[in-house]
Amino acid sequence: MELPFAESWKIKMVEPIRKSTKEQREQWLKEAHYNVFQLKSEQVYIDLLTDSGTGAMSQEQWAAMMLGDESYAGATSFYKFESTIKRIFGLDYVIPTHQGRAAENVLFSYLVKEGNVIPGNAHFDTTKGHIESRHAFAIDVTIPEANDTQLELPFKGNVSIELLKKVLEENKGNVPFFVLTVTNNTKGGQPVSMQNIKETCEVCHSYNVPVVMDSARFAENAYFIKTREEGYKEKTIKEIVKEMYSYVDAATMSCKKDAIVNMGGFIAMRNKEWYEGCKLFCIPFEGYVTYGGLNGRDLNAIAVGLDENTEFDMLETRIKQVEYLAKKLDEYGIPYQRPAGGHAIFVDADRVLDQIPKEEFPGQTLTCELYLEAGIRACEIGYMLADRDPVTRENRFGGMDLLRLCIPRRVYTNNHMDVIAAALKNVYDRRHEIKRGVAIEWEAPLMRHFTVQLKRLG
Ligand code: F0G
Repeated sequence: MELPFAESWKIKMVEPIRKSTKEQREQWLKEAHYNVFQLKSEQVYIDLLTDSGTGAMSQEQWAAMMLGDESYAGATSFYKFESTIKRIFGLDYVIPTHQGRAAENVLFSYLVKEGNVIPGNAHFDTTKGHIESRHAFAIDVTIPEANDTQLELPFKGNVSIELLKKVLEENKGNVPFFVLTVTNNTKGGQPVSMQNIKETCEVCHSYNVPVVMDSARFAENAYFIKTREEGYKEKTIKEIVKEMYSYVDAATMSCKKDAIVNMGGFIAMRNKEWYEGCKLFCIPFEGYVTYGGLNGRDLNAIAVGLDENTEFDMLETRIKQVEYLAKKLDEYGIPYQRPAGGHAIFVDADRVLDQIPKEEFPGQTLTCELYLEAGIRACEIGYMLADRDPVTRENRFGGMDLLRLCIPRRVYTNNHMDVIAAALKNVYDRRHEIKRGVAIEWEAPLMRHFTVQLKRLG
């Protein structure tokens, strides 16, 4: 008999989690203004809010933490961090930052000017926020097929070369860089193919536009290239990563994802001029350039995490768990962004709650219902997250409205996946009883989903 698939690690330390009653959850959610970001973590049974900073570190990472050099300048931890990044990504100039958005803040402070256009394959919300807060414009040029959740494409995170050329042609001289996000989080954790990375960079470079890789889930993207793209089956993840970055000019990274640490980020680049420019913003915002808002021990843990998570077994364990959950949802007929993405399952809330109008935020409503059902905290990646158009101030209802079940790395078992699927099935089975959605009572002008206050209608 063929042996079944199993995790490439075993568990050494555990943390208890607690169930609650439906009455408690009703009360807690009301106090949280129907926004799960406002819940206390102890009010949550299974936490799928994000895979960011929520992973379990390895014994090697914990051991490396004990060897952190906490010197203010020139710490050995920085040099370990820097040499690991140079070796894995092939980018020579490295600046640590306290997380991904801090890397964006430093780099964009240097590069983005009012009125600029920055195209990308669905910018993440902090990326979009850092562009729009500088009165510049983020334009999405992801392939339009990505918006059809039921279409099965191997690389649904790809850039539309046609749309890209159009934007570059119309905005000549006004595009400081392109943001290439791997995997494409906003469109469902969908990967970008090597061929598309290469072509995107060629087109951008022909217009003298540099490419910045938003790298949060770069290793998961490399896994999909290895398993789905012709010509990469025999290559190691590290070889694939090296090739991905050989085409781009710079990278911003949230180490909280694919470096499997609780906090950290960096900017890495090829161009010394950019490096000098970024240093000027790193020092006042993040700290001196050899620590950038991080402890020496954090830099050590990142270096080990980057090496470990660019190995196939680690990534296979991870992606297979997401696939396991997807298969359960298939069994129950629950629609999600197909095929299953790298870090999460994105349930198509518009389809599940098709009786609820956009104006009542189906994704946000489904998030509340799943929490009420079983204490599972997922996250809306939809109309709430999309914010308002900066010019018209209208809600942006043009994209998808999804419920993201985001799976932390090395944290939950497949038994937890069974509970998540069963809870979602229960909500799905009673979906027609959910007649009304939610309405906004208070919202921030930008990145409103973190703090928005809602009321339940009906
Ligand atoms: N880029 C992408 C693609 C991201 O998904 C994130 C964060 C960031 C940049 C910013 O990094 O959080 O370290 O400042 N995504 C998290 C999420 C928060 O839940 O998807 P950060």
